[in-house]
Amino acid sequence: MALGRTLILKTSALKPVESLVRKSFLFRPLVRRFIAGDTLEESLKASRDLLDRGLRVSLDYLGENTANEAEALAAKKTYLEMLDRISEVPQVKKFVDEFGASYTAEKRNGTNVEPLNISIKLTQCGMDQGFDFAEANYRSVLERARAGSNFVRVDMEASDYTERTLKMIDTVRHEFPNTGTVLQSYLMRNDADVQTIIDWQIRVRLVKGAYLEPAAVAFPEKSKVDEQYIIQAKKLLREAHYPAIATQDESIITALNQFVAEEKIPKQNFEYQMLYGIRRDLQDSLVKEGFNVRIYVPFGDSWYPYFTRRLAERPANMLFIAKSMFKG
Ligand code: FDA
Repeated sequence: MALGRTLILKTSALKPVESLVRKSFLFRPLVRRFIAGDTLEESLKASRDLLDRGLRVSLDYLGENTANEAEALAAKKTYLEMLDRISEVPQVKKFVDEFGASYTAEKRNGTNVEPLNISIKLTQCGMDQGFDFAEANYRSVLERARAGSNFVRVDMEASDYTERTLKMIDTVRHEFPNTGTVLQSYLMRNDADVQTIIDWQIRVRLVKGAYLEPAAVAFPEKSKVDEQYIIQAKKLLREAHYPAIATQDESIITALNQFVAEEKIPKQNFEYQMLYGIRRDLQDSLVKEGFNVRIYVPFGDSWYPYFTRRLAERPANMLFIAKSMFKG
């Protein structure tokens, strides 16, 4: 399984493969399943449908590793527009009326957490062009979010960026309590990072990790990653401030549901998160059981790297494409 994942990630990085996938209509249905649309408008429509189903949303404007400052500034402009448009959504207006326009971290939990926030990438804010440049862009986004009582999650990217991402969060976290980040259980360093986030008491999303990493920094065996994930999730559920447990792994969710029941951890103290287009049945059943569930909704035309990470997580998705080929 891990071999299939590595193979898909390596193959998809080849330029001719990218060009084939981008052009071929065969991949379209699968792209549409994972990505809410090319435009902000389409992603807001998908978000409203999810909110109507009792879910919460984090909007993600696809794109990473800007090639120059102009690209990063354009991405920042889109982030700001997303926040402006989000504040017009009826459920968001109602939330702000009820809980106030200022973001108070201590008070955020499942009973008063923002319905629709955003997730951003620091390499889309211009990290490759310079730390200070990216920080200035990130701060502008945080200011706009704070004005709308909203929250900005910084996604975690490949391990080359882990240290810089945590440093950036540490630089802004006192001034902006309306931000948090993501930690990846496949990284060998992650136990220490979990402790850091607990010490900081900022919101964290725990994921298994989606990038192609060398065996020197990330556990190659899936069973080891799953084991680490459960241990770290339990620690965060006990000690962190409103953690997000982000997985589609039903056996892990079942184990954690049992854990929170035994430990008497209130359901409003954390949220589950899942990706758009994956395990809709599980999303709905968790909402019915009274858990907070947030869906990560990506949009935009730079969908290729995100899409290949989703294919690699479940090589069986390739069967879907093979079936379409034979049907056609
Ligand atoms: P796992 O991969 O073991 O899958 C468990 C089960 O879930 C599968 O058996 C299948 O049923 C279902 N499933 C999982 N992926 C599927 C897919 N693509 N298609 C169909 N079914 C699938 N990573 C990262 O490095 N940085 C980040 O910032 C984020 N952010 C993020 C946000 C949110 C809300 C989620 C849910 C995930 C991320 N990730 C991420 C991705 C994460 O690291 C991980 O790659 C995926 O969540 C897949 O891992 P699972 O925990 O679902 O388990």
